[in-house]
Amino acid sequence: MKTKFEKNILCIGAGYVGGPTMAMIAYKCPQYRVTVVDISHKRIAEWNSDKLPVYEPGLDEIVKSVKGKNLFFSTEIEKGVKDSDIIFVSVNTPTKSFGVGAGMAADLQYWEKTARQILQSAESPKIIVEKSTLPVKTALAMERILTSNNSRIHFEVLSNPEFLAEGTAIQDLENPDRVLIGSNQTENGLKARDVLVEIYKNWVPSDRIITSDIWSSELSKLVANAFLSQRISSINSISALCEKTDADITTVARAVGFDSRIGNKYLNASVGFGGSCFNKDILNLVYLCRHYGLYEVADYWEGVVKINEYQMGRFVLNMLTSMFNTLTGKKISLFGFAFKANTGDTRESPAIFIAKRLVEEKAELVITDPEALQNARIDLKNIDGKVSFIEDPYDAAAGCHAIALVTEWDLYKNLDFEKIYRSMIKPAFIFDGRNILDHNRLFEIGFNIYPIGKPALTHFE
Ligand code: UDX
Repeated sequence: MKTKFEKNILCIGAGYVGGPTMAMIAYKCPQYRVTVVDISHKRIAEWNSDKLPVYEPGLDEIVKSVKGKNLFFSTEIEKGVKDSDIIFVSVNTPTKSFGVGAGMAADLQYWEKTARQILQSAESPKIIVEKSTLPVKTALAMERILTSNNSRIHFEVLSNPEFLAEGTAIQDLENPDRVLIGSNQTENGLKARDVLVEIYKNWVPSDRIITSDIWSSELSKLVANAFLSQRISSINSISALCEKTDADITTVARAVGFDSRIGNKYLNASVGFGGSCFNKDILNLVYLCRHYGLYEVADYWEGVVKINEYQMGRFVLNMLTSMFNTLTGKKISLFGFAFKANTGDTRESPAIFIAKRLVEEKAELVITDPEALQNARIDLKNIDGKVSFIEDPYDAAAGCHAIALVTEWDLYKNLDFEKIYRSMIKPAFIFDGRNILDHNRLFEIGFNIYPIGKPALTHFE
């Protein structure tokens, strides 16, 4: 295809990573034509509408400024492949739910289908960039598929893991800590790597672009997520000890985090971590270690997931014991359902686990969240219990026995809690699963407050 553009970039997969990443490339590189394709007609229609399928601060503006100019969303995968020079693959790789490695290994069916599709449609050499987080050595498998029918067309596979976090995707893409590119250490591999380096150099300083072999790049992504979630599990494990000893987890985290060798990030005690990556990636790492017979290493990392499950379970247990050992028929409002603030994403959200456990205890749930109610409805659609969804937090709390704050939305910090207190059943409880509320003030209003990793403030003897 002859166009005025220097390069044709295709991205297969229009999700949380593919959409924003391609929007940023299009925005920073007007000389490239960027097309994002997906099998889901609905998703593509949403990208082509004014209401994007992904909520990210700053994303709307960027997409609006480039859509139809050098950024296009389409369902024509075959055509997209034919026209492209570089193909980013950003399809989902959920944890396998069946067969060997169920609950642990990554489900690579979408990834393999995509590889076969590329092979079928390509008429010229391509650089294939794996963006999805994948188990180590996936690039090798991809290469094997792409060379399987002895095609004369050369495909060069690169690994370029995405480190963006949801809610700050635009910031992370615009100003990344690093961009990692893994390639074969062959002449063709290094040439392809340089093409990708050139793309990023349009806005990322050269010293933040790290190059490596493919396997180290793939493994680095898993390890980065494992380290981040390990920090959260570490601080959450200590929060349990703080609750037993009347120490304060915020003080402990601050004192520990001031050590410049440790640093202060990812030390906020919480109900537990969620999101599409952490659990999946650690389990992947665990699976990989077991596969290679590294059982001690596997057990070590599995501990991170176990503590996370323990923390979510502990939160519910705390609610049960504090509310006189029965939740049957009690109305509880969940403040927040997203796995963290500033996103509508609920994948692996602790809220799902907590909601299910509370319903098992026969509590009645009222769920509120500024962005995630649509997903919450889907997550809980088969739940056998009384659950309602209310956008307005005041309406959600009215008539409830307790509020369980699960997501750290700023909005919840500035609510009129006197008004909320008046509308609730007494004694009124707040379980602050994110430690974002002003506990002393809430206590003065009359609430019984149960933070994470701090002494509870109650009006009981
Ligand atoms: C993460 C990684 O940060 C990112 O680099 C990678 O590309 C994908 O996985 P994301 O899943 O978007 O990103 O969320 P992140 O902001 O890292 O938070 C993950 C979970 O940890 C959330 O549930 C969050 O609430 C929780 N968290 C985070 C804590 O409980 N305490 C903290 O101190 C930090």
